[in-house]
Amino acid sequence: MKKEIKPFHNKVWLASPTMHGPELEYVKQAYETNWMSTVGENINQTERLACEKIGCKYSVALSAGTAALHMAVKLAGVKPGEKVFCSDMTFDATVNPVVYEGGVPVFIDTEYDTWNMDPAALEKAFELYPEVKVVVIAHLYGTPGKIDELKAVCDKHGAIIIEDAAESLGATYKEKQTGKFGTYNCISFNGNNVFETES
Ligand SMILES: Cc1ncc(COP(=O)(O)O)c(C=O)c1O
Repeated sequence: MKKEIKPFHNKVWLASPTMHGPELEYVKQAYETNWMSTVGENINQTERLACEKIGCKYSVALSAGTAALHMAVKLAGVKPGEKVFCSDMTFDATVNPVVYEGGVPVFIDTEYDTWNMDPAALEKAFELYPEVKVVVIAHLYGTPGKIDELKAVCDKHGAIIIEDAAESLGATYKEKQTGKFGTYNCISFNGNNVFETES
């Protein structure tokens, strides 16, 4: 029997951008110092603060989270025709860079607890496609997936993780910031993504 789906009574907003004051100053500063460029002091500081927040050694600021994921897929060496396991419930930028490189995304089902990649489904997928070497894992809506379990499955099969932490800057898993659990890790500053704010 088909289940009736009723819309929510009140709209649940995903996330809307919020401004806190200094943003406009930094834009002005970049303009006035002529660092309207892919380099400059504000970018250095962004990279430094990202490392500090996440607790990683290096970061590089690109134009968008999508560009970061694209670079990660390139660095992972995905070749045309190669299958790549990807989260299935996510923003499409988790998956698009795989296709940009000619890879073939294989969607791994979502689990009930976290709404993220199901470790059991991932294990099953490796039974079907043991040759897969790259897995792109997103943390949806600021809720981390079951990283230890997912990592254990990937390690067992010799695959690396590209962590899509675009929506989870500020979210922790076992008291560690997301954004450093994979071989390559990506965050985003898109105004629609989920950020922790200083209070
Ligand atoms: C899960 C996820 N991955 C990647 C991206 C891409 O980030 P950006 O918009 O900065 O390209 C987004 C959102 O925008 C996202 O929600």
